[in-house]
Amino acid sequence: MSGTRLDHIAIAVRSLDEALQFYKDQFGLECLEIEEVTEQGVRVAKLDLGNTHLELLEPLSPDTPVGKFLQTRGPGLHHICVGVDDILSKLDCLKSAGTKLIDEQPKLGAGGARIAFVHPKSTGGVLLELSEPAQHGASDH
Ligand code: CO
Repeated sequence: MSGTRLDHIAIAVRSLDEALQFYKDQFGLECLEIEEVTEQGVRVAKLDLGNTHLELLEPLSPDTPVGKFLQTRGPGLHHICVGVDDILSKLDCLKSAGTKLIDEQPKLGAGGARIAFVHPKSTGGVLLELSEPAQHGASDH
């Protein structure tokens, strides 16, 4: 059975506090956790959207990928994330199909997940993240 699913949608914001306030006041969404992911240069706030998660990304500094994104494009949709069971074999498949990858090897993402980004050129113009959840216990669903 394929475990491919929508894992989260990520929005780049200038202020985590402001964005969290908006989603709390207007949609009643509570922040599940805030995590600093130094490898990606972001602070990530995770909100429960029922069947998926919403992630708000605030850059740790202007010279990070999300910091540069904000400077050139402003706040907005940053990426969608597809959860997969086996990221290494998925990356191999994509590579052999000639898909343009940003990360040829998985990196460490929020929650200890192994992640890799696929270039928008190959996905219809949307930055696509692949994520294999951390294997320790039932921390996620
Ligand atoms: Co993400």
